[in-house]
Amino acid sequence: MKKVIDRKFCVAPMMGYTTPYARNLYRILSKKTFLFSEMIATKTLIHSKDVSSIIANEFQNPIALQVGGSEYNDLKLSSKLAYELNYDEVNLNVGCPSKAVQKGSFGACLMRDKVLVKNCLDAMQINKDIEVSIKCRIGLGKEFNYEFFEEFIDEILKSGIRLVYVHARNAILNGISPKGNRNIPPLNYSFLSKIKSKYPKTSFILNGGIDSMDKALKLSKVHDGVMLGRLIQNNPFCLKDVDRQFYNQKNNYIVSEKTINDYFNFIRPKFGKDSIYRLLSPLLSIFFGIPNAKEFKINIHSKMKEDNFEILEKIFLNFIKEKKILIN
Ligand SMILES: Cc1cc2nc3c(=O)[nH]c(=O)nc-3n(C[C@H](O)[C@H](O)[C@H](O)COP(=O)(O)O)c2cc1C
Repeated sequence: MKKVIDRKFCVAPMMGYTTPYARNLYRILSKKTFLFSEMIATKTLIHSKDVSSIIANEFQNPIALQVGGSEYNDLKLSSKLAYELNYDEVNLNVGCPSKAVQKGSFGACLMRDKVLVKNCLDAMQINKDIEVSIKCRIGLGKEFNYEFFEEFIDEILKSGIRLVYVHARNAILNGISPKGNRNIPPLNYSFLSKIKSKYPKTSFILNGGIDSMDKALKLSKVHDGVMLGRLIQNNPFCLKDVDRQFYNQKNNYIVSEKTINDYFNFIRPKFGKDSIYRLLSPLLSIFFGIPNAKEFKINIHSKMKEDNFEILEKIFLNFIKEKKILIN
């Protein structure tokens, strides 16, 4: 049986960013937030010699593995791997507009072929214990077209899935970069409300442009859940309030030296096996919005070049000690 999981607050999949390390930091700060891996191409999953390190899930549940692909057998195998590695959900990426992804016939370009997407989702449903979901856009090109979105959802729901994450802007497949595709096409949350009234039993999670926790909280009350990307990328400590604000838990998490100790305890065994940048990257944005943090940043970057792990931990500890009142 699938676990019953509340997806009121989700951290969006972000390639190069929601690594196993970042997810560990998120899990320290919030026990309830629903997490996502980065998107992993099914071919990479299937052909990699060291698959478990790419998609390691070290007690980070509740969590989804996001995959990119459109070949049924590959998708089936990816679901199997996700299940074996104790993921709660496997999610199909139908939102990424990059040229490389289009060349591999996955991502947002799949919105052109709704029957293919429905068949992909069919293939991914390997058993009753793992949830299958999709993350898509509201359309393709420059014009809004509700009918196109509705017909896409009508078709994919025939697969039986009941969980849809929607980045509520179109994808423009030519002429603008993936970064531009996160800002230039206008947002339109009304498509989500409209489709929800047609499919009340399906969960539609809203994503795109939610740039404050206040906004997230308000939107979570009128949608099935919210998914945030860049706000968390820029300021992971926002997650400390999620369990109380979104999941009615009694207390906020308090950021302290223990946060740093817990994080370093997790990455210490990986030191030397992965780049220091990847290991520390989730902590590099904790200076966001904190006054007089420049000196710490300069110091951290120079010590990263020296690969001096113990000193780096001390600098982060001093930062938290000095700034925890401002952070909390
Ligand atoms: C650095 C970065 C990498 C991303 N990688 C992925 C990805 O792997 N899969 C995906 O579905 N979306 C990806 N996205 C898009 C986000 O999941 C999200 O849909 C988008 O950023 C809009 O949400 P936001 O306004 O809260 O940031 C990425 C976004 C960023 C900023």
